[in-house]
Amino acid sequence: MRQHVNPLSSNFNQIERIPSLSEMFSDSQLNLHLDIGCAAGEFLFDLALVNTSWNYLGIEIREKLVKNAKLKVAEREIKNLYFVFGNANNILNAVQSEFILKNVKSISFNFPDPWFKKRHYKRRVIQPEFINFLSNVLQKGTIIFIKTDVKDLFDYMDCTISSNFYFKIIEKKDFSYSESFNPNKFKTNREKDVIINQLDIFERIYIKI
Ligand SMILES: C[S@@+](CC[C@H](N)C(=O)[O-])C[C@H]1O[C@@H](n2cnc3c(N)ncnc32)[C@H](O)[C@@H]1O
Repeated sequence: MRQHVNPLSSNFNQIERIPSLSEMFSDSQLNLHLDIGCAAGEFLFDLALVNTSWNYLGIEIREKLVKNAKLKVAEREIKNLYFVFGNANNILNAVQSEFILKNVKSISFNFPDPWFKKRHYKRRVIQPEFINFLSNVLQKGTIIFIKTDVKDLFDYMDCTISSNFYFKIIEKKDFSYSESFNPNKFKTNREKDVIINQLDIFERIYIKI
């Protein structure tokens, strides 16, 4: 399976139909968490099975992973988990998906692709325009989590989000994980690898004010 997909390819200009929350989840009133770049979604399966008082939505640009994840959701009859295929930036910018950002309580960007070369920075999922857009549509109090093992990417993401007046940093010590989308502090696949390889993890939490 291809590990890296160019999100700016015209293949991703067209987005699939985004179902309503009540089509995605059996109880559309539950708190909603959005995981951007969820890969095969194992992290979200862990969360959804244990934390049934939240709905979980994953967006992933590798179509095969999303197809497989959707099959697994159907087989296991999981009612609080849904996956959407495509470039998250295009999907969330589309008018038809505005309701997702209006309803979401928290968003995670876990170990996004770093795109190390400067000329590829535009392929990074966090872009100033995207953060500006989020600051306009997210409800006050929405939380954003970022996590990476690449210091340069962390600095870039942190600078991009912190430069937006509407996002304030929450110190980890002041954050109540038990009330969040991940009360059990499950790890993503990439995070598990990073821990095994004893690499650093850089993370930050922001709140929309
Ligand atoms: C390094 S992997 C991390 C996967 C997972 N979050 C984890 O922590 O194990 C980054 C994932 O983001 C996906 N991705 C990259 N750009 C994306 C975009 N614009 N929209 C949606 N998914 C994207 C990649 O295909 C890949 O699966």
